[in-house]
Amino acid sequence: MFSVFPASSDPAMKLFGLLLMGSALWVLANEKADPVHSLNAQVAQRNAPDTNRTQQLFLIELADMFYVEKRLVNKLGELSEQAMNPEVSSAFTKHKRETEEQVNRLQQVYKLMGHAAEEKKCEGLEGLLEEADGMASKFKDGAMHDVVAITAARKVEHYEMAAYLALIDLAQRMGKKDVIPYLQENRQGEKESDAALEKLLDRVGPRVAQR
Ligand SMILES: [Fe+2]
Ligand SMILES: [Fe+2]
Repeated sequence: MFSVFPASSDPAMKLFGLLLMGSALWVLANEKADPVHSLNAQVAQRNAPDTNRTQQLFLIELADMFYVEKRLVNKLGELSEQAMNPEVSSAFTKHKRETEEQVNRLQQVYKLMGHAAEEKKCEGLEGLLEEADGMASKFKDGAMHDVVAITAARKVEHYEMAAYLALIDLAQRMGKKDVIPYLQENRQGEKESDAALEKLLDRVGPRVAQR
């Protein structure tokens, strides 16, 4: 049977074997007794590269965003048609076109990942859209209709920005630098769209007269 200790009848070798075992036990005992060493070991384990699990999470988040962008191409088209103010309508059409470009960029990310593009239903977006529809049913006409639509769209922009930040962080952790510019460009597009919607809301939103 295999043994780490020298199998010998030589007394010197036997003594060597005992010393070896003693040293090993001393090291083990000190590792357990030394809380700093133990903490360092835990930190090292937590920071150990876990590329497969990180990539798995990245691909799930990516599939979620691929669904989001494709779903929003349709939704922004609907919002544009339903808008009361032509300026609001054209803002949604503009972002619809930008969203189509975002879909293309995500396809590029999939290509660089060597993975077929796939969608995963995003419950977060569906929740936001459901809430927006409920709100819109209470404000069907006039300027308030557009205020509700712009408010809902801004919530979605912030959701998207957070999702892209998470994807960029995961890409950095994986050391997958080539996908980052595509994700950053999409994130920037959401940021600019949110800023444009904020200005639009300021222009089209009715103001209650101050007394
Ligand atoms: Fe988007
Ligand atoms: Fe967006």
